[in-house]
Amino acid sequence: MTSPVRKAVFPVGGLGTRFLPVTKAVPKEMLPVVDKPLIQYAVEEAFAAGIEDFIFVTSAGKAALEDHFGRNHQLEDALAARGKAAELKVLQATMPEEGRFSYTRQQQPLGLGHAVWCARNLVGNEPFAVILADDLILSQTPCLKQMVDVYNRHGGNVIATMAVPHEQTARYGVIDAGGVQANPVPVRALVEKPAPDEAPSNLAVIGRYILQPEVFSFLERKETGAGGEIQLTDAMAKLIGDQPFHGLDFEGRRFDCGDKIGFLEANIAYALARDDLGAAFAERLKEYAN
Ligand code: G1P
Repeated sequence: MTSPVRKAVFPVGGLGTRFLPVTKAVPKEMLPVVDKPLIQYAVEEAFAAGIEDFIFVTSAGKAALEDHFGRNHQLEDALAARGKAAELKVLQATMPEEGRFSYTRQQQPLGLGHAVWCARNLVGNEPFAVILADDLILSQTPCLKQMVDVYNRHGGNVIATMAVPHEQTARYGVIDAGGVQANPVPVRALVEKPAPDEAPSNLAVIGRYILQPEVFSFLERKETGAGGEIQLTDAMAKLIGDQPFHGLDFEGRRFDCGDKIGFLEANIAYALARDDLGAAFAERLKEYAN
């Protein structure tokens, strides 16, 4: 029997320098894809996967995130007075049950591994998910739900993977599956941001993880890796051999919203997929085809 995955950690401390000037006063996780901020897509995906407790690892300047998931009585009253029932319903999705959302500060930007470690006391001694909101995934079944299904069969740790062009391996964590072709595939080793000629494969880690709490004991050591940062990948690699560790080549399309082109593409894909906007937007886009 595996323990259920009830908690998810959202590392939201990043500065978002690639999106300046908008990220000077707006957290990058609040950038909208169509009309919803990136962080809300991440939260809704976790919710759809059965997550009950949501843990945000923040930094200075991220208050808008907490406001987004808090009640705004003035706005609710104004919408109610104007009979705007549909808009009130949209707001409902941003108002979690009290006590389900927790916020903790990452006091120094020491890396993704450090951000996850900051959540250790809120996670406690149970398996947990990690979602990077920059990686937006459009799929039939929410990506984290696909991973929970794998976890329920295999236990241990599960990470999302995707084949990337070989020349791009230095942007990602990369898995070594020993040439085995399976899905999910047992992971034999992990390397953070390897140069193409040193990469064990072209299977990249995408920002979705189900991890066992033992990973905290390795993060605790604060060892630095690629880029001088405390890397989650390095701590995960140490679990391999002691616990099941699988990579899932998920169904769906991933958009790198930490990158301008990826972010713009996500807006097009999500707008086209919307019942209320898709047809009209497709018509308008034809004007830009050349
Ligand atoms: C992080 C992880 C990396 C992973 C990537 C996915 O890198 O460290 O292993 O492949 O997210 O988006 P970052 O994009 O923060 O440099």
